Amino acid sequence: MDSIVLVGFMGTGKTAVAKMLADLIGKKYVSLDERIIKADGRPIKDIFSQEGEPYFRKIEKEIVKQVSREKGLVIDTGGGVVLDEENMEELRSSGVVVCLWAKPETIYERTSRYGHRPLLNVDNPMEKIKELLEYRRPFYEKADIHIDTDELNVAKIADLIQRRVYEQGKD
Ligand code: S3P
Repeated sequence: MDSIVLVGFMGTGKTAVAKMLADLIGKKYVSLDERIIKADGRPIKDIFSQEGEPYFRKIEKEIVKQVSREKGLVIDTGGGVVLDEENMEELRSSGVVVCLWAKPETIYERTSRYGHRPLLNVDNPMEKIKELLEYRRPFYEKADIHIDTDELNVAKIADLIQRRVYEQGKD
């Protein structure tokens, strides 16, 4: 039983969609960020501010290895997991990788209500979103399935993923 791995930028809906999808298809929901918080004992914004991003990425990589060995999950990843090619290899080996996409305006609207994302706690978050999104685009393009979420609600996205994964015959 393969896992379904959701990747994509912050604010593309990975968490809400992964939870709904897991319910829909009867798989277990796992969040990499939650596992990181549990392993380290601090919230992500504290890990970033006290230890820096490279330290966070090291724990993230360790957790990716662990979770990729488990079977039959819906895996909710953090937006930067795709930047490490070994992470992508591990995740691809565990199942099908689905990328959720959204335009910068949508991401800004969805993320501006929350303050827990250290990378967007800057003076001009919109500029930062555009810059990071452009840089990361080729990494997100490596996913097996791509879904544009701008005009879709969570239920519709979960349904679409289920159908697209089934069509690929990897479920
Ligand atoms: C990050 C995204 C966050 C979290 C961390 C870094 C990123 O997860 O892993 O703040 O580099 O894009 P979400 O994508 O769930 O917000």
